[in-house]
Amino acid sequence: MTKITAAITAVGGYVPETKLTNFDLEKMVDTNDEWIRSRTGISERRILKEPGKGSSDMAVPAIEEILRKKNLDPKEIDCIICATVTPDMVFPATANIIADKVGATNAWGYDLSAACSGFLFALSTGAMYIESGRFKKVIVVGVDKMSAIVDYTDRTTCIIFGDGAGAVLLEANEDGLGVQDSILKSDGSGRNFLHMKAGGSVKPATAETVAAREHFAFQEGQAVFKFAVKGMADVSAELLERNNLTGDDIAWLVPHQANLRIIDATANRMGLDKEKVMINIQKYGNTTAATLPLCLWDWENQLKKGDKIVLAAFGGGFTWGATLLTWAY
Ligand code: UT7
Repeated sequence: MTKITAAITAVGGYVPETKLTNFDLEKMVDTNDEWIRSRTGISERRILKEPGKGSSDMAVPAIEEILRKKNLDPKEIDCIICATVTPDMVFPATANIIADKVGATNAWGYDLSAACSGFLFALSTGAMYIESGRFKKVIVVGVDKMSAIVDYTDRTTCIIFGDGAGAVLLEANEDGLGVQDSILKSDGSGRNFLHMKAGGSVKPATAETVAAREHFAFQEGQAVFKFAVKGMADVSAELLERNNLTGDDIAWLVPHQANLRIIDATANRMGLDKEKVMINIQKYGNTTAATLPLCLWDWENQLKKGDKIVLAAFGGGFTWGATLLTWAY
């Protein structure tokens, strides 16, 4: 029997129109453009400003782009996995809301919470549904409206994050193209370094938690930085090694866009030239679950069938991992 692999057969993306530049932030907190660019590589990020709009409103246009490109009836979608830490509501799942909004009436779906590694974890999960033969068309979408949980009085976090969505369509491939291998990791002992203190079942929302600004993303930047550099570089190198590949075999590295210095460290460890690394952090910042698919979206025209691509991520949890895939179109 022919082995079925799960291939990405289309990419869609969406970023809001409104830009929040480093110069805008200079007016909001004690920071400056030079510091932000040299420490993170970010110049601006996109913000979903319209009241009443949430993550699903960015995921929908990203998926609709895929439907247009593939001339696909939304009723053909079997499953939607939505990676996000900023769901429209705590429940129901944003995936359900997205399915309703795009007219994917035959799809089931759910949200996957793995912070900045969310897309990578969801991609691996979706790929298994395809590989098993159980489903034919799976949408994996990474979306975050980080502006909803960023404290714009905290200069250590508000300079990093932005809003956006990226989606891929997974379909079966019988030529061995698509997802090849993944190393995925999580370590909950890192939970206090990057988290939201209140609003969960441990500390439900009260007037006190709101006053203490505990419904915003909290990060111990330096600690996360150290884990991220090691975690992302280690799994990426291990993934190459166990597939008998070197940096020369890899066409593209698609790294999570959290900090340019973390990206550089990962590329160096893999022995990759800078030209092979997708970097769009300067214009979108860290869009959490959307960074990887937004890179694929920006670079889609440059990708060639057969290209070996490594996707790598690190995020809250801690969660981290790397996936090797062969581009299918
Ligand atoms: O995506 C999920 C995973 N997240 C990450 O991977 C993020 C990892 N962490 C980072 O990217 C970096 O730690 C940050 C960009 C968040 C911070 O950069 P850093 O080089 O680690 O800065 P730091 O926290 O060590 O702070 C250095 C100095 C401090 O001042 P003193 O104590 O040396 O006087 C900070 O108070 O920079 C100060 N600082 C700022 N100065 C201007 C912190 N934030 C700012 C700011 N503007 N926005």
